[in-house]
Amino acid sequence: MSLSAKEKIKPLPLRRNQWHATAQVHPSAYVEDSVSIGKDVRIWHFVHVREKAKIEQGVTLGKGVFIDTKVSIGKFTKIQNGVSVYQGVHISEYCFIGPHAIFTNDPTPRSYVKEWSIVPTYLKCGASIGAGSIIRCGVTLGEFSMVGAGSVVTKDVPAFHLAFGLPAVVKKKICACGQSQFPLKTPMKLLLGSCCRKNLLKEMFDQAKQFLELKITKNSRK
Ligand SMILES: CC(C)(COP(=O)(O)OP(=O)(O)OC[C@H]1O[C@@H](n2cnc3c(N)ncnc32)[C@H](O)[C@@H]1OP(=O)(O)O)[C@@H](O)C(=O)NCCC(=O)NCCS
Ligand SMILES: [Zn+2]
Repeated sequence: MSLSAKEKIKPLPLRRNQWHATAQVHPSAYVEDSVSIGKDVRIWHFVHVREKAKIEQGVTLGKGVFIDTKVSIGKFTKIQNGVSVYQGVHISEYCFIGPHAIFTNDPTPRSYVKEWSIVPTYLKCGASIGAGSIIRCGVTLGEFSMVGAGSVVTKDVPAFHLAFGLPAVVKKKICACGQSQFPLKTPMKLLLGSCCRKNLLKEMFDQAKQFLELKITKNSRK
Protein backbone atom coordinates (compact mmCIF):
# COMPACT_ATOMS: atom_id res chain seq x y z
CA MET A 1 0.00 0.00 0.00
CA SER A 2 1.44 3.38 -0.85
CA LEU A 3 0.10 6.88 -0.31
CA SER A 4 -0.51 8.96 -3.41
CA ALA A 5 -0.37 12.72 -2.93
CA LYS A 6 -4.12 12.88 -3.57
CA GLU A 7 -4.95 10.27 -0.97
CA LYS A 8 -2.77 11.70 1.76
CA ILE A 9 -4.56 11.76 5.05
CA LYS A 10 -4.23 14.84 7.22
CA PRO A 11 -2.83 14.75 10.74
CA LEU A 12 -5.43 15.30 13.42
CA PRO A 13 -4.72 17.80 16.18
CA LEU A 14 -2.74 16.31 19.05
CA ARG A 15 -5.05 14.22 21.18
CA ARG A 16 -4.66 12.91 24.70
CA ASN A 17 -0.99 13.96 24.59
CA GLN A 18 0.10 10.41 23.75
CA TRP A 19 -0.16 10.89 20.01
CA HIS A 20 2.92 12.21 18.29
CA ALA A 21 2.28 15.41 16.33
CA THR A 22 3.41 13.76 13.07
CA ALA A 23 1.06 10.77 13.36
CA GLN A 24 -1.61 10.53 10.66
CA VAL A 25 -4.86 9.00 11.80
CA HIS A 26 -7.79 8.73 9.40
CA PRO A 27 -10.96 10.29 10.84
CA SER A 28 -12.83 6.99 10.44
CA ALA A 29 -10.35 5.16 12.71
CA TYR A 30 -11.50 4.47 16.27
CA VAL A 31 -8.67 4.89 18.74
CA GLU A 32 -9.58 4.27 22.39
CA ASP A 33 -8.14 6.12 25.39
CA SER A 34 -4.58 5.77 26.62
CA VAL A 35 -3.21 4.61 23.29
CA SER A 36 0.33 5.70 22.58
CA ILE A 37 1.02 6.59 18.94
CA GLY A 38 4.59 7.28 17.85
CA LYS A 39 6.24 9.53 15.30
CA ASP A 40 5.18 9.15 11.65
CA VAL A 41 2.62 6.45 12.38
CA ARG A 42 -0.11 6.06 9.73
CA ILE A 43 -3.47 4.68 10.71
CA TRP A 44 -5.86 4.09 7.83
CA HIS A 45 -9.62 3.82 7.38
CA PHE A 46 -11.77 1.94 9.91
CA VAL A 47 -8.90 0.81 12.10
CA HIS A 48 -9.80 0.01 15.71
CA VAL A 49 -7.10 0.39 18.34
CA ARG A 50 -8.10 -0.68 21.85
CA GLU A 51 -7.06 1.05 25.05
CA LYS A 52 -3.47 1.00 26.30
CA ALA A 53 -2.11 -0.30 23.00
CA LYS A 54 1.27 1.06 21.94
CA ILE A 55 1.93 1.86 18.30
CA GLU A 56 5.60 2.69 17.86
CA GLN A 57 7.38 5.02 15.45
CA GLY A 58 6.82 4.57 11.72
CA VAL A 59 4.17 1.84 12.00
CA THR A 60 1.47 1.61 9.31
CA LEU A 61 -1.90 0.06 10.10
CA GLY A 62 -3.90 -0.66 6.93
CA LYS A 63 -7.64 -0.48 6.43
CA GLY A 64 -9.74 -2.41 8.95
CA VAL A 65 -6.87 -3.48 11.23
CA PHE A 66 -7.77 -4.32 14.85
CA ILE A 67 -5.24 -3.93 17.66
CA ASP A 68 -6.28 -5.41 20.99
CA THR A 69 -5.88 -3.93 24.49
CA LYS A 70 -2.27 -3.50 25.68
CA VAL A 71 -0.80 -4.94 22.47
CA SER A 72 2.33 -3.19 21.30
CA ILE A 73 3.51 -2.93 17.70
CA GLY A 74 7.27 -2.51 17.15
CA LYS A 75 8.67 0.39 15.16
CA PHE A 76 8.40 0.48 11.34
CA THR A 77 6.17 -2.58 11.23
CA LYS A 78 3.55 -2.67 8.46
CA ILE A 79 0.24 -4.39 9.06
CA GLN A 80 -1.87 -4.75 5.94
CA ASN A 81 -5.65 -4.59 5.52
CA GLY A 82 -7.97 -6.65 7.67
CA VAL A 83 -5.51 -8.08 10.22
CA SER A 84 -6.54 -8.51 13.88
CA VAL A 85 -3.74 -8.54 16.45
CA TYR A 86 -5.03 -10.05 19.68
CA GLN A 87 -3.54 -10.06 23.16
CA GLY A 88 -0.64 -12.45 23.41
CA VAL A 89 0.70 -11.61 19.95
CA HIS A 90 4.07 -9.86 20.36
CA ILE A 91 5.22 -7.96 17.31
CA SER A 92 8.77 -6.60 17.19
CA GLU A 93 10.20 -3.94 14.90
CA TYR A 94 10.32 -4.04 11.04
CA CYS A 95 7.78 -6.84 10.76
CA PHE A 96 5.45 -7.22 7.78
CA ILE A 97 2.01 -8.78 8.14
CA GLY A 98 0.27 -9.39 4.82
CA PRO A 99 -3.39 -8.66 4.17
CA HIS A 100 -5.92 -10.79 6.05
CA ALA A 101 -3.35 -12.87 7.87
CA ILE A 102 -4.89 -14.46 10.98
CA PHE A 103 -3.47 -14.80 14.49
CA THR A 104 -4.96 -17.02 17.17
CA ASN A 105 -4.45 -16.77 20.93
CA ASP A 106 -6.48 -19.62 22.43
CA PRO A 107 -5.42 -23.14 21.42
CA THR A 108 -8.69 -24.83 22.42
CA PRO A 109 -11.52 -22.28 22.22
CA ARG A 110 -14.99 -22.91 23.66
CA SER A 111 -17.67 -20.24 23.88
CA TYR A 112 -18.86 -21.35 27.32
CA VAL A 113 -15.53 -21.87 29.10
CA LYS A 114 -14.91 -18.85 31.33
CA GLU A 115 -11.25 -19.47 32.15
CA TRP A 116 -9.36 -19.18 28.92
CA SER A 117 -5.64 -18.93 28.69
CA ILE A 118 -3.69 -16.91 26.20
CA VAL A 119 -0.78 -18.68 24.55
CA PRO A 120 1.75 -16.14 23.27
CA THR A 121 3.03 -15.82 19.73
CA TYR A 122 6.23 -13.95 18.88
CA LEU A 123 7.23 -12.15 15.72
CA LYS A 124 10.90 -11.26 16.06
CA CYS A 125 12.60 -8.32 14.38
CA GLY A 126 12.01 -8.23 10.60
CA ALA A 127 9.72 -11.28 10.37
CA SER A 128 7.27 -11.28 7.40
CA ILE A 129 3.97 -13.08 6.99
CA GLY A 130 2.40 -13.60 3.55
CA ALA A 131 -1.20 -12.73 2.72
CA GLY A 132 -3.95 -14.85 4.23
CA SER A 133 -1.70 -17.01 6.39
CA ILE A 134 -2.87 -18.46 9.70
CA ILE A 135 -0.45 -18.40 12.61
CA ARG A 136 -1.25 -20.89 15.36
CA CYS A 137 -0.60 -19.43 18.80
CA GLY A 138 2.52 -20.53 20.61
CA VAL A 139 4.86 -20.23 17.65
CA THR A 140 7.83 -17.92 17.21
CA LEU A 141 8.70 -16.46 13.83
CA GLY A 142 12.43 -15.79 14.06
CA GLU A 143 14.38 -12.70 13.02
CA PHE A 144 13.93 -11.90 9.31
CA SER A 145 12.05 -15.16 8.72
CA MET A 146 9.35 -15.26 6.05
CA VAL A 147 6.06 -17.14 5.75
CA GLY A 148 4.60 -17.67 2.24
CA ALA A 149 1.08 -16.61 1.29
CA GLY A 150 -1.80 -18.80 2.45
CA SER A 151 0.30 -20.89 4.82
CA VAL A 152 -0.81 -22.45 8.09
CA VAL A 153 2.05 -22.07 10.55
CA THR A 154 2.03 -24.65 13.34
CA LYS A 155 5.73 -24.69 14.29
CA ASP A 156 8.47 -22.13 14.88
CA VAL A 157 10.18 -20.69 11.84
CA PRO A 158 13.88 -20.09 12.59
CA ALA A 159 15.57 -16.76 11.91
CA PHE A 160 16.35 -16.09 8.20
CA HIS A 161 14.31 -19.10 7.05
CA LEU A 162 11.43 -19.25 4.56
CA ALA A 163 8.47 -21.52 5.31
CA PHE A 164 5.26 -22.06 3.40
CA GLY A 165 2.46 -24.52 2.71
CA LEU A 166 -0.19 -26.30 4.73
CA PRO A 167 1.16 -27.01 7.26
CA ALA A 168 4.04 -24.62 6.66
CA VAL A 169 7.40 -26.32 6.22
CA VAL A 170 10.79 -24.62 6.25
CA LYS A 171 12.08 -24.84 2.69
CA LYS A 172 14.99 -22.43 2.30
CA LYS A 173 17.11 -19.81 3.96
CA ILE A 174 16.32 -16.25 2.94
CA CYS A 175 18.26 -13.00 3.10
CA ALA A 176 17.24 -10.03 5.23
CA CYS A 177 15.64 -8.12 2.34
CA GLY A 178 13.82 -11.22 1.05
CA GLN A 179 15.18 -11.03 -2.50
CA SER A 180 17.61 -13.98 -2.32
CA GLN A 181 16.91 -17.55 -1.27
CA PHE A 182 19.50 -20.20 -0.39
CA PRO A 183 19.64 -23.94 0.34
CA LEU A 184 19.09 -24.81 4.00
CA LYS A 185 22.73 -25.67 4.66
CA THR A 186 23.99 -22.20 3.65
CA PRO A 187 26.07 -20.55 6.43
CA MET A 188 24.36 -17.69 8.23
CA LYS A 189 27.14 -15.23 7.32
CA LEU A 190 26.04 -15.32 3.66
CA LEU A 191 22.51 -14.16 4.42
CA LEU A 192 23.15 -10.44 4.24
CA GLY A 193 24.06 -9.65 0.65
CA SER A 194 24.43 -6.61 -1.57
CA CYS A 195 20.68 -6.89 -2.30
CA CYS A 196 20.01 -6.27 1.39
CA ARG A 197 22.30 -3.25 1.50
CA LYS A 198 20.47 -1.83 -1.52
CA ASN A 199 16.91 -2.61 -0.41
CA LEU A 200 16.83 -2.10 3.34
CA LEU A 201 16.65 1.02 5.46
CA LYS A 202 20.07 1.48 7.02
CA GLU A 203 18.69 0.96 10.48
CA MET A 204 17.08 -2.34 9.46
CA PHE A 205 20.25 -3.49 7.68
CA ASP A 206 22.31 -2.73 10.79
CA GLN A 207 19.87 -4.64 12.94
CA ALA A 208 20.09 -7.71 10.67
CA LYS A 209 23.89 -7.48 10.63
CA GLN A 210 24.06 -7.23 14.39
CA PHE A 211 21.78 -10.24 14.81
CA LEU A 212 23.79 -12.38 12.38
CA GLU A 213 27.13 -11.42 13.95
CA LEU A 214 25.82 -12.32 17.39
CA LYS A 215 24.46 -15.64 16.15
CA ILE A 216 27.70 -16.50 14.33
CA THR A 217 29.83 -15.65 17.39
CA LYS A 218 27.57 -17.73 19.64
CA ASN A 219 27.75 -20.73 17.29
CA SER A 220 31.51 -20.53 16.90
CA ARG A 221 31.88 -20.60 20.71
CA LYS A 222 30.07 -23.95 20.92
C1 LIG B 1 6.80 -18.30 -0.55
C2 LIG B 1 7.29 -17.35 -1.63
C3 LIG B 1 8.16 -16.25 -1.01
C4 LIG B 1 8.12 -18.18 -2.58
O1 LIG B 1 8.51 -17.43 -3.66
P1 LIG B 1 9.36 -18.10 -4.85
O2 LIG B 1 10.61 -18.67 -4.31
O3 LIG B 1 9.48 -17.09 -5.93
O4 LIG B 1 8.45 -19.31 -5.27
P2 LIG B 1 8.25 -20.00 -6.70
O5 LIG B 1 7.19 -19.28 -7.43
O6 LIG B 1 9.59 -20.21 -7.37
O7 LIG B 1 7.68 -21.41 -6.26
C5 LIG B 1 8.49 -22.49 -5.81
C6 LIG B 1 7.56 -23.65 -5.47
O8 LIG B 1 6.88 -23.36 -4.25
C7 LIG B 1 5.46 -23.32 -4.45
N1 LIG B 1 4.95 -22.19 -3.68
C8 LIG B 1 5.34 -20.89 -3.76
N2 LIG B 1 4.68 -20.14 -2.85
C9 LIG B 1 3.88 -20.97 -2.18
C10 LIG B 1 2.96 -20.79 -1.12
N3 LIG B 1 2.78 -19.57 -0.59
N4 LIG B 1 2.29 -21.85 -0.66
C11 LIG B 1 2.48 -23.09 -1.18
N5 LIG B 1 3.36 -23.33 -2.19
C12 LIG B 1 4.04 -22.29 -2.68
C13 LIG B 1 5.28 -23.14 -5.94
O9 LIG B 1 4.05 -23.64 -6.37
C14 LIG B 1 6.46 -23.88 -6.50
O10 LIG B 1 6.16 -25.27 -6.45
P3 LIG B 1 6.82 -26.30 -7.48
O11 LIG B 1 8.29 -26.32 -7.18
O12 LIG B 1 6.14 -27.58 -7.14
O13 LIG B 1 6.51 -25.78 -8.84
C15 LIG B 1 6.09 -16.66 -2.38
O14 LIG B 1 5.45 -17.56 -3.23
C16 LIG B 1 5.07 -16.10 -1.40
O15 LIG B 1 4.11 -16.77 -0.97
N6 LIG B 1 5.25 -14.81 -1.07
C17 LIG B 1 4.37 -14.04 -0.20
C18 LIG B 1 3.58 -13.03 -1.02
C19 LIG B 1 2.66 -12.24 -0.14
O16 LIG B 1 1.83 -12.76 0.55
N7 LIG B 1 2.79 -10.93 -0.12
C20 LIG B 1 1.98 -10.08 0.76
C21 LIG B 1 1.89 -8.68 0.26
S1 LIG B 1 0.85 -8.51 -1.14
ZN1 LIG C 1 18.84 -9.39 0.36
